[in-house]
Amino acid sequence: MDILNTINKDNLPKHLAIIMDGNGRWAKQKGMLRAFGHENGTKAVRTTVETCAKLGIENLTLYAFSTENWNRPKLEVDTLMKLLINSLKNELKTLTENNIKLNIIGNFEKLPASAQKELSQVISKTKDNNRMTLTLALSYGSREEIISAVKSISTKVKNNIISTDAIDESIINQHLYTQNLPDVDLLIRTSGEHRISNFLLWQIAYAELYFTEVLWPDFREKDLYEAIISYQKRERRFGKTSEQIK
Ligand code: IPE
Ligand code: IPE
Ligand code: MG
Repeated sequence: MDILNTINKDNLPKHLAIIMDGNGRWAKQKGMLRAFGHENGTKAVRTTVETCAKLGIENLTLYAFSTENWNRPKLEVDTLMKLLINSLKNELKTLTENNIKLNIIGNFEKLPASAQKELSQVISKTKDNNRMTLTLALSYGSREEIISAVKSISTKVKNNIISTDAIDESIINQHLYTQNLPDVDLLIRTSGEHRISNFLLWQIAYAELYFTEVLWPDFREKDLYEAIISYQKRERRFGKTSEQIK
């Protein structure tokens, strides 16, 4: 594919995060139920995961289910949980073949026991893989993550394990669910929505944002390449002047 040759392999995002949105609207456009959109969304997940691993992206984080998504109709929540369990069963092979390690962020305890069990197994079976870390944000909310970090830091301060003065960015990073991940370099959101929806608020402080109209089940290699090419054309200044960067 020609477009692939225009990607600079030395300037890939170290951490790519994606808000996979638009499954419901995709199904509706086809006169189908929302569940059909979610099923087709899992195919786009597989393509994206494989493409990122082949490109050489070290960390991919996918927003799969938010703390707010628990408020959807029970039938839809149940469908999403079943799809998650089935995908984990089916994708273990893909993860193993591509040397991908599975990681999760979010409130694990809120997930159904069967999903927890399947996740634990895949995490344990892929723990030594080192080409790419695939993080699934499941039952994830950034505010909940920050609250949980504040609570554990407070307990440590109370027990004299850390002093208030020692609290810095690194201490906060270590207490977030994403403790072993670098900051997000590129955040993609599909489906034309321009919002963050409680995703990785701290971690995207300096991320480049990319929005596309494409609905998640239609997201293909080409769409990913376009996002990366857009990222590579940008000048990341981190507060400095353009002259300082050059
Ligand atoms: C994203 O698609 C999947 C989840 C949030 C679980 P949606 O289900 O939000 O689809 P739309 O936004 O209603 O089209
Ligand atoms: C964000 O999508 C969550 C996921 C993609 C898992 P939503 O569809 O739930 O977000 P809102 O409600 O449009 O903000
Ligand atoms: Mg949505």
